Amino acid sequence: MTADVAMDTAGKSAEEALSLDTDETGASRLENDLIIKLHILMKVSQIYDQKNVALDQVVQGTLELINHLMKLGDSLSLRVIRDGIFINQKRLKIGVDSYIGFKFVLEQLKKKRLGEITIHIVPDEDTLKEFVYQMMSLTDGDEDNAKKLEDALARLGIESFAFEPLEIFEEDEFFAQTDSKEAGKKLFFETIGVIKGVVTGIKKDQFINARKLKRMVQGAINLMVKDESILLGLTTIKNYDEYTFNHCVNVAIYSLAMGRRLGVSKKLLSELGITALLHDIGKAKIPKEIINKPDKLDDDEWRLMREHPMMGVEMMLKIKQLGEMSPKMVIGVFEHHLNCDFTGYPRLIRKKDLTLFGKIIKIADCYDAMTTPRAYRSKTFRPEQALAVMVREKNGFDPILLKLFISIIGIYPIGSLVLLDTNEMGVVYETNPDPQYINRPKVILVSQSEGRRRIGPAINLTEADPETKSYTRSIVKTLDPHKYHVNIVKHFL
Ligand SMILES: [Fe+2]
Ligand SMILES: [Fe+2]
Repeated sequence: MTADVAMDTAGKSAEEALSLDTDETGASRLENDLIIKLHILMKVSQIYDQKNVALDQVVQGTLELINHLMKLGDSLSLRVIRDGIFINQKRLKIGVDSYIGFKFVLEQLKKKRLGEITIHIVPDEDTLKEFVYQMMSLTDGDEDNAKKLEDALARLGIESFAFEPLEIFEEDEFFAQTDSKEAGKKLFFETIGVIKGVVTGIKKDQFINARKLKRMVQGAINLMVKDESILLGLTTIKNYDEYTFNHCVNVAIYSLAMGRRLGVSKKLLSELGITALLHDIGKAKIPKEIINKPDKLDDDEWRLMREHPMMGVEMMLKIKQLGEMSPKMVIGVFEHHLNCDFTGYPRLIRKKDLTLFGKIIKIADCYDAMTTPRAYRSKTFRPEQALAVMVREKNGFDPILLKLFISIIGIYPIGSLVLLDTNEMGVVYETNPDPQYINRPKVILVSQSEGRRRIGPAINLTEADPETKSYTRSIVKTLDPHKYHVNIVKHFL
């Protein structure tokens, strides 16, 4: 089976659903831009003094955005809740472009203990500069900073801003990021950015810097050796706006996880990762009207779509900097829509065994496509449903590799929402590496009490009562996160 099964089941191929162009909505773009501008402004304020002309352009740009956003309401509020930034009560959806800025602004506001900044009156250039310089000069960790900043600005006759202190949540300690987790997030978003650059370059027939891809893949391999669950957790993001780039990175993560379990050499693993990242580059040359078409493709469009593996091969051959571009990599791209019984596409005249790269990427590709929501596909599969469909499709996948994939993803894959026999809900955040305990992953409890959702603590489902030796908690079944309004992604960001 390929993603074509998703097509048969849902009336539309998951592959048809791929887009190589992103289109963020106007509002979320403005909000993301504001964060990018704030990031630059805060950074520049640490280098230059307030009178430096280097500041003027970014100050003007920031003011334009504030003006735009304030036209939508009476005031503009920027609030920090745990690891999220909310602009006018709307949680900011992090884009690839804004990730670094987002992290910086979030960290600075946390350090300064500022929970909310509200702008009541559009400031002028001097007022905005004054606000940034005063804010950046606050002492880190001072709980009274909100009041101090308001007073300092009031002394200068500035009353356009109001501040609230940062709210500290009890369970924050539980979400304290480890270094590896931070490194994983950075790598994940950077790789999405790099693949986006490669695709944009191909569209414009420009020089492609593929060396960066190699570096990203090396980084991913090193991180996986330390802790595989970090990158696997990030595959639950399924960012709709950045779907194609996100998809390529997810396919690479799943492929690397499989390659590692197979014990392939580091060199081969690196080649596999790059191939997986590039498996859909052939789509860069297909018009976006076809790729984004909400209706069924007509025969000509479908014919063109089926050419993307072959077009991908041509592009792979053009990317010379990959140096010793091995035939394995080119063939892997060529084969990623071929089934084990040689159905699928491109059509083969002479049939011979599919390669390891092709078989691995095909499994990763299909699983990610099936589990990602798309606007014009009626059905998105929950992880365990996707695996079940794939297992039923006898001739689609290499059976041994599929078994291996299931053992990595687990019968309760990372990111699943599960019901426990204690009537609690939990989000799976780490699968159990011991096959004996495949049904006992680690979960983060999600409970509801007095109308409030409580998160944590983290539970290892192998925990048992020391006296009776019976398990404290067991999984009863998986639940649909949308039905229970549980945002899975936030547990991995
Ligand atoms: Fe594809
Ligand atoms: Fe794909």
